[in-house]
Amino acid sequence: MTRLQINEVAPRDGLQIEAAFVPTEEKVRWIDALSATGLARIEATAFVSPKAVPALADAAEVVAGITRRPGVGITALVPNVRGAERALACEVDEINLVMSASVSHGRANLRMTPDQSLEQFAAIVETVRAHPQGRDVFINASLSTSFGCPFEGEVAEARVLDLVGRQLALGVQGVTLCDTTGMANPAQVGRLCEAVLERWPDTPFTLHFHNTRGMGLANALAAWQAGIIRFDASLGGLGGCPFAPGATGNVCTEDLVHMFEQMGIATGVDLDALLAVSATLPDLVGHDTPGQVVKAGKADRRYPMPSR
Ligand code: COA
Ligand code: ZN
Repeated sequence: MTRLQINEVAPRDGLQIEAAFVPTEEKVRWIDALSATGLARIEATAFVSPKAVPALADAAEVVAGITRRPGVGITALVPNVRGAERALACEVDEINLVMSASVSHGRANLRMTPDQSLEQFAAIVETVRAHPQGRDVFINASLSTSFGCPFEGEVAEARVLDLVGRQLALGVQGVTLCDTTGMANPAQVGRLCEAVLERWPDTPFTLHFHNTRGMGLANALAAWQAGIIRFDASLGGLGGCPFAPGATGNVCTEDLVHMFEQMGIATGVDLDALLAVSATLPDLVGHDTPGQVVKAGKADRRYPMPSR
């Protein structure tokens, strides 16, 4: 059975919605601890406007500060050419372009329609490939609101397939389908995953779920059953898009790893090490997190019998 690849997005998706700024050196220590747990990739930050997302204003300092480990890809979210240039200067392994499948969320989040985002993508791909540091950088694209838009409601599967096709035609190498505000259900996830894998069997697809309505793990399982092996997840279940009303945390990394490992599906992640890092989150972000296994313990935890 193929090992899963978990992309830890808490340093980006998790922190972007936090009100309090986490100091740069604490972010660096945290990412270094995460990269020792066996995760395949870490989305370390976003090279976006510091006015739009003040929590990630130190993107360059964070990437420069972390210790690179062989086998752990460092990726960063990038909305435009300016962001790509900033990311390349820090020698990231991967850039994660972002656009919305729906017009309204694209406007709210990026001030771009899907067509305008695709124009940016074309310019970004050109910039990356012409850059001395860019030749080997993996170009991924995230498609927000792939399963529904908080402003418009349903997003048609045909629209998602069309946009994925146009991204790939521009030279994008991998695609992440994002359920930005937790609107997806497992039946819908299974259908869309089967559709993309049938059409593009050689493209690495990642699934990105938010647990806004409690369906995050069920959706991840449905995606795996359809053949998906790459998942975004966020430590402690932190996360959410600041420009999508009602957005809440991502599917929780340690809960996702726990579920798959309990099922006998290897993730490559040292769950105990991950739980230990998760236990430090309340100190890091200043509040409790929605993660469940960190509180309950793993399913094989045994309690002493109460004495009468
Ligand atoms: N990095 C740093 N600064 C950037 C930037 C980038 N990638 N892109 C734009 N900026 C700055 C510009 O320099 C400008 O600064 P100024 O006001 O001091 O002159 C300001 O941001 C606005 O730039 P503009 O080109 O007019 O873009 P915009 O206002 O249309 O903003 C985005 C578009 C996408 C750049 C901006 O809204 C953004 O970064 N949003 C964050 C989206 C996000 O992270 N969402 C959550 C994750 S999906
Ligand atoms: Zn997200």
